[in-house]
Amino acid sequence: MSAPRCAVLLCADGPLVVRGPVTVEDEQGAVHTSERSVVALCRCGLSAQRPWCDGTHKRAGASGG
Ligand code: FES
Repeated sequence: MSAPRCAVLLCADGPLVVRGPVTVEDEQGAVHTSERSVVALCRCGLSAQRPWCDGTHKRAGASGG
């Protein structure tokens, strides 16, 4: 059985959109999991729900890169 595939979409001035259930380990070693079919990862650092994007980048006019 092969590992499930995932796809990552880079959104201009926004998050990384990941298709597929994901596990994210942050810089402190905390593990965050999501079983959703699509998740958005914060790139701007402003989300209150990190590592997930909560849309704050739009209100703040932040650029995620
Ligand atoms: S990229 Fe959306 S809140 Fe940071």
